[in-house]
Amino acid sequence: MNDKNLSRALLEDAARFGIRYRESSVDRSVAPAPEALAKIDGFIETLPANGMPAKDVLSLLDKIGSPATVAMTGPRFFGFVIGGSLPVSVASNWLATAWDQNVVMNEVTPATATLERVAMNWLIELFGLPDDSAAAFVTGGTVANFTALAAARNRVYTDVGWDVEADGLIGAPPVTLLVGEEAHPTLFKSLGLLGFGRDQAIRIPVDGQGRMDAARIPAINGPTIVCTQAGNLNTGAFDPVGDICDAVKPRGAWVHVDGAFGLWAAASPELQFLCKGVQDADSWATDAHKWLNVPYDSGVAFVREAQALKSAMSITADYLLTESEFRNPSDFTPELSRRARGVDVWAALKSLGSEGVAEMIERCCSNARRFADRLQAAGFDILNDVVLNQVLVSFGDDATTRAIISEIQEDGTCWCGVTVWQGHTAMRISVCNWSTTVDDVDASLDAIIAIATRTVDRSLR
Ligand SMILES: Cc1ncc(COP(=O)(O)O)c(C=O)c1O
Repeated sequence: MNDKNLSRALLEDAARFGIRYRESSVDRSVAPAPEALAKIDGFIETLPANGMPAKDVLSLLDKIGSPATVAMTGPRFFGFVIGGSLPVSVASNWLATAWDQNVVMNEVTPATATLERVAMNWLIELFGLPDDSAAAFVTGGTVANFTALAAARNRVYTDVGWDVEADGLIGAPPVTLLVGEEAHPTLFKSLGLLGFGRDQAIRIPVDGQGRMDAARIPAINGPTIVCTQAGNLNTGAFDPVGDICDAVKPRGAWVHVDGAFGLWAAASPELQFLCKGVQDADSWATDAHKWLNVPYDSGVAFVREAQALKSAMSITADYLLTESEFRNPSDFTPELSRRARGVDVWAALKSLGSEGVAEMIERCCSNARRFADRLQAAGFDILNDVVLNQVLVSFGDDATTRAIISEIQEDGTCWCGVTVWQGHTAMRISVCNWSTTVDDVDASLDAIIAIATRTVDRSLR
């Protein structure tokens, strides 16, 4: 075979293995078998001096790697807040990888830069954000928060006459940071990366669902950034973003919304009431790899004031033609070089349309309520108001709940994780996979209830 045929055979193998993997993830055990896990050690070796034929490299990946994965993309994985991947977005991802575009500048990557611009405008419309907001396609919610907050940092310092991009933070005037007590841990990491420190924010008390209490926000004085949340990672609850904006924006504060998954409620006519006031903020972060169901990794930052984001992110150099009439993607992202991850966002939105996105979001929420209702009917405690796609269930004391979660994970019908919610150990069920059906929910419930009932009965004997 010549080089061209070898390359074709290799890519065809990749497609075959990938298709087989995805088809099997529908009915296989969600947890990998212990024998498959034991074989992962087959990857561990010293750097080989001589290479292996590419075809064998790929076969090895499939033989050892595929069976040793947790079926995260399958319909019964309810751990963390992990979306699956729509077939169209996996396919677009494969094609965009084949294009191998470095989407720095419009001039040299016109097709991908245009697709990202279109995807950005569609998302802005879907979420009801201000029309001329800027956006950045980044790796995920953490970097989306970081990126949006870099714009916030730029704006609040510009307002007091300090050029933070040039002069940094040493000797800079202090910025007041207000963050809800139940903010996602990566929000604090983003603040740390921006030089604000992870522990400097004033934590605003929250209620039993994790919502910030707007009445407890202190009087604003000087440069201030308020970080709110749309969608608590445990309960799915939303901060009263509108009330917070009303309280702090007249005093010049910048309001940011971490909407890693909750912002998607804005795309649903049924659920958008949860996002009341979110559109009044100054910046927003979300994930596409969660609820839009595109492959990892994919997050998006939006900023009302494009110039603040551009000032924080753009660079110029003689060889980079960054000033152009077109939008150059790298003017808005922390990275210069990167894959065109917005292509998958475009493909998902093009194939679903706004109605398809709304239907997917609503279906996940309805399945979450189904989980809660049946678990409650079976006698277990639901610890949160199920307003979105998150369900917290307690099976009794902490040790019993943990033991039951371990058994559920080993059983392999479905996969749910453990969390601690305001002092109570709970199992967290997060429904955000496009392919989860009512039958998947019922099969998972049957397994969960059988395991939990058996364990509780045993402990009572
Ligand atoms: C509310 C919230 N913010 C931020 C993140 C971090 O997102 P990522 O893991 O995509 O960086 C998550 C992840 O679950 C989240 O739920």
